[in-house]
Amino acid sequence: MTAGGSEPPRLLIRGLSQIATPAGTAAPLRGAALGEVDVVEDGFILCEGGRITAVGAMSELPALRGEVEELEGTGLSAIPGLVDCHTHACFAGDRVEEFALRAAGASYEELHAAGGGILSTVRATRAAGESGLADALALHRAWMVRSGTTTFEAKSGYGLDRETELAQLRVIREAGGVPTFLGAHAVPPEFSEAGAVAYLEFLIAEVLPEAADLAEAADVFLERGAFDRDEARRYLVACRKAGLELRLHGDQFTESGAVPLALELGARSIDHLESTRSAGIAALAASDVTAVLLPLSALFLGRPMPPARALADSGAVLALATDFNPGSSFSESLPLVCSLACTQLRLAPDEALVACTTNAAHVLGRADRKGRIAPGFDADIVLLGAEDWRYLAYHLGGPVVHTVVQGGEIALAGSA
Ligand code: NIG
Ligand code: FE
Repeated sequence: MTAGGSEPPRLLIRGLSQIATPAGTAAPLRGAALGEVDVVEDGFILCEGGRITAVGAMSELPALRGEVEELEGTGLSAIPGLVDCHTHACFAGDRVEEFALRAAGASYEELHAAGGGILSTVRATRAAGESGLADALALHRAWMVRSGTTTFEAKSGYGLDRETELAQLRVIREAGGVPTFLGAHAVPPEFSEAGAVAYLEFLIAEVLPEAADLAEAADVFLERGAFDRDEARRYLVACRKAGLELRLHGDQFTESGAVPLALELGARSIDHLESTRSAGIAALAASDVTAVLLPLSALFLGRPMPPARALADSGAVLALATDFNPGSSFSESLPLVCSLACTQLRLAPDEALVACTTNAAHVLGRADRKGRIAPGFDADIVLLGAEDWRYLAYHLGGPVVHTVVQGGEIALAGSA
């Protein structure tokens, strides 16, 4: 910060081997545009007041007067700050015991049905209290920044009672995240007798009125063993009426009608899609619902990968995210997501970059400010420790993130 002021100082990043950013200004990018990334060689980026004000080749760098902080970019490349549009980062405890059980052969769905899985994180999250949750999220957020994430969404859904659901949403907002109300994640034990519909009625009457002031979107786990299509519709319609955007966890293990419901309700996104077949792919391609793919979750659970290539080729809007959570995807790394996108989903590095910048920002309603290195956009920039930006996906599990700039200030200094 400047002395006595709250504005970040001007920051000039100079001598960058490459600056890579989704092409143009439109969002979302789909069809051929999904793979369009503009690259400037030997470039500079100028940030002022937390925004990007100029980008170009070093040969075009204007003379700058006054105070300017300089960052030397020689040997580095720049991409937009990564946008993680699907996480469950606000949780307490871990599921390392369950991880070991799964390694020995137990399935995720079996553990869930036996009262473990999501419900074991609900117990830990309820017990943590609001300040314990804030501490946990601060740690998870620091991990995300180290992986180059500068904008993150996080869901409630580990409270499943009024107090803890609202506490999760408050903690997410206070940490600068984009909060999503996922009250319909599982039926909590207190409602196991009364059932899913009684639980949803409780959520709609007792939690939604306040949740709608804290969250930007609502989400539901539409799946065998969680909520069915009619239950999901009832919850989502009430959430939409309360002013929330709609998202769905759908087609993770079974095709249970999530795609038609997402289209019917005009949802912002449907996320997972590991089990989606050709009719669902065609329906999504003909819609404006974003398909959010979560390859880390498929990897972590040993499940089939989602049909990314078919979705991309048929013109669907694609985004990529981590699904960071303690049970089905204990990783906050979008660079790893990009590696899986290129090695397992058959996406090009350019498509992967667009999917976790501009298109992910679109899912969060922020594509006018986030996800591009262009004048007017927020000064959220990741410097990679390589001359070619495609090392983002190429260096599988490597320490690719060198420096992170968030709102024009250095959030992570030279670490690769
Ligand atoms: O997106 N599928 C449901 N919800 C999360 C997992 C949450 C958990 O296992 O704690 C998911 O994979
Ligand atoms: Fe999820």
